[in-house]
Amino acid sequence: IERTFSIIKPDAVRRNLIGKIIAIFEENGLRPIALKKIHMTRAQAEGFYAVHKERPFFGELVEQMIASPVVVQVLEGENAILKNREIMGATNPANAAEGTIRKLFALSVGENSVHGSDAPETAAEEIRFFFNDDELVG
Ligand code: GTP
Ligand code: MG
Repeated sequence: IERTFSIIKPDAVRRNLIGKIIAIFEENGLRPIALKKIHMTRAQAEGFYAVHKERPFFGELVEQMIASPVVVQVLEGENAILKNREIMGATNPANAAEGTIRKLFALSVGENSVHGSDAPETAAEEIRFFFNDDELVG
């Protein structure tokens, strides 16, 4: 059993897609073991995406992430990290496979509805960034 970190991004929360997205996770064997709705501060968004800070889209990405609330979650299941990436689909919705969350809901490469950790190390780091151990109730 593995854990991964997920964000339902502002574009999806604004369009009332929280329930639909969580249903897709649950239908695919990913159980939310911690979740909360937060409005990220600029410092949180810049810290979370620090790895991208030299990229040309960094400023726009931060603005999009702090524009309105998000839902942060820890998902647990078999191969949760890879499975979540598969369910999310490609970063650019134009390249996302049929049936993926980004194919179904994303508006653009920036407003692409969800974030998911890409490896065990980043999953652990990202979970710690938003949750204390006592909030994980698997
Ligand atoms: P995450 O799960 O969000 O990390 O997506 P990813 O791993 O598929 O993409 P990556 O880590 O390369 O980029 C992080 C986020 O930056 C993406 O989800 C996009 O929202 C955003 N992003 C990436 N490329 C672009 C771009 O060219 N323009 C804009 N505006 N945003 C981008
Ligand atoms: Mg990434």
